[in-house]
Amino acid sequence: MVSDARILIAPSVLAADFTNLGRQVHDATEAGADLIHVDVMDGQFVPNISFGEAVVDAIRRSTDAPLNIHLMIVEPDDLLPAFMKSSGDQVIVHAEACRHLHRTVTRIKEAGCQAGVAINPGTPISAVEEVLHLLDLVLVMTVNPGFGGQAFIPGALTKVERLYQTIQKEGYETHLEVDGGIKADWTAQESVKAGADILVAGTAIFNDSEPVSQAMAGMRSCVHGIRDARGTEPHRAPHA
Ligand code: DX5
Ligand code: ZN
Repeated sequence: MVSDARILIAPSVLAADFTNLGRQVHDATEAGADLIHVDVMDGQFVPNISFGEAVVDAIRRSTDAPLNIHLMIVEPDDLLPAFMKSSGDQVIVHAEACRHLHRTVTRIKEAGCQAGVAINPGTPISAVEEVLHLLDLVLVMTVNPGFGGQAFIPGALTKVERLYQTIQKEGYETHLEVDGGIKADWTAQESVKAGADILVAGTAIFNDSEPVSQAMAGMRSCVHGIRDARGTEPHRAPHA
């Protein structure tokens, strides 16, 4: 049984009220956010621009929780130093955006950050398999990246299941993260059953219909006691 304490919830600030960003990050942290998910978009890899280093630094100062920094940036190597300032943070690059993925992942690790690789819904898991042993996490996109508030793509769950099987078989401690369209409903539950242990949620946490604390509690209780795909305890260390 996967206890809910081992499912990490990562609110995505993309959906936050940016006139009140520090307060929103603070509220999410107070409500028990395990990680703060930070979407950096360059307008090239994805058809949208979000924010850059200055805003990430401000978020970093607004919480003690580790940042889960999702870089949607073409060829991110030159920009990595802007986002690798705190050793407890996780820096995630897209497999599709890196010409030399192994080198990029190695740079993140050498900087003392945790390294993650994301794959889009149309990208096979083979895109990460050769670096899996180096990774702290794999992010399986459950929407096409670029915008919050999109509908969850159920087909992505089979990739989570297959990655989970490989991680279990090899004895890795790699976290499996899902991002996009996750709500406090079947989308979160099926993701956990498939083997995900980090749930990103933007509009489900930051919205006008309920306070952040209530939304966080709803997400937490939704996945409470859900069994993973094989009904076994995942072979993963809790997040440090
Ligand atoms: C989409 C981003 C997501 C987004 C999720 O490109 O990577 O992190 O903020 O938003 P929701 O949870 O609203 O789908
Ligand atoms: Zn994201």
